[in-house]
Amino acid sequence: MLLTPQKGSLNKIVILNPKGGCGKSTLVTNIAASYARRGTITAVMDYDSQGSTMAWLDRRSADLPKIHGIAAFKKSMQATRSWQLRVPGDTENLLVDSPASLTRDDLRELTRDSTSILVPVLPSPMDIHAASRCIADLLLVAKVDRRDRKLAVIANRTRKNTKSLRNLMRFLDSLGIPIIAVLRDSQNFVRSAEHGKGICDMQPSRVKPDIEQIGKIINWLDAWPQRRRVSISSTTIKNAPLSEHSLLQRTQFRSA
Ligand SMILES: Nc1ncnc2c1ncn2[C@@H]1O[C@H](COP(=O)(O)OP(=O)(O)O)[C@@H](O)[C@H]1O
Ligand SMILES: [Mg+2]
Repeated sequence: MLLTPQKGSLNKIVILNPKGGCGKSTLVTNIAASYARRGTITAVMDYDSQGSTMAWLDRRSADLPKIHGIAAFKKSMQATRSWQLRVPGDTENLLVDSPASLTRDDLRELTRDSTSILVPVLPSPMDIHAASRCIADLLLVAKVDRRDRKLAVIANRTRKNTKSLRNLMRFLDSLGIPIIAVLRDSQNFVRSAEHGKGICDMQPSRVKPDIEQIGKIINWLDAWPQRRRVSISSTTIKNAPLSEHSLLQRTQFRSA
């Protein structure tokens, strides 16, 4: 039966960054595949009209662990929005894929009740700049509280420690936002996606470095109840009010 799960028990993970091609759908599908393989009830919700995540699910073989899909980008006149967005009542993990452009209201709707928000970033100066703007919007528009420790970055298709990546690390460090994994540029991601699989569904010997990084992401995501508890008592992250001006100034890196 399709119902909206109890808010408190649903692990809702939102992947966003308005920059196309940075790896949002790759992360959504890989994280969903890992949770499904572990035997937890998993759903993906695709807000991107390109529908990459829904297309991936269509290619997924019935032999693989099941993942429920919701095409949130399709708007029906026959049903209410909340009816369209309902997920199976026993869903434990919900992965939300987001589109290239988001209004302020979309950003708030998407991130509401999330347990974690992941921002994938490619290593080019332009991409890093766009990601910093996205993080600034999350803090200022969606009002994500840094003390909740729900926000993290994944460096994607990254080969070396470039100057722009170091700049991003400094920017994130000053905000207390971690880079939790660095994914290499690998055809494993492309090939697995072609077959509706995640890296975890591939032969382990071929995907060892990739699976290690996905494992790091899953470990960080799994710790959300503890992060939430710590955040209530923590005083380590300074949460002095961020002015838009000061935050946007910090995103003005000089590129490598
Ligand atoms: N780490 C990676 N190595 C190789 N190819 C990747 C990697 N991450 C993503 N890709 C490929 O890059 C393209 C864009 O990734 P995608 O996840 O669709 O980005 P987005 O959803 O942000 O637009 C896809 O063809 C995907 O297979
Ligand atoms: Mg996508």
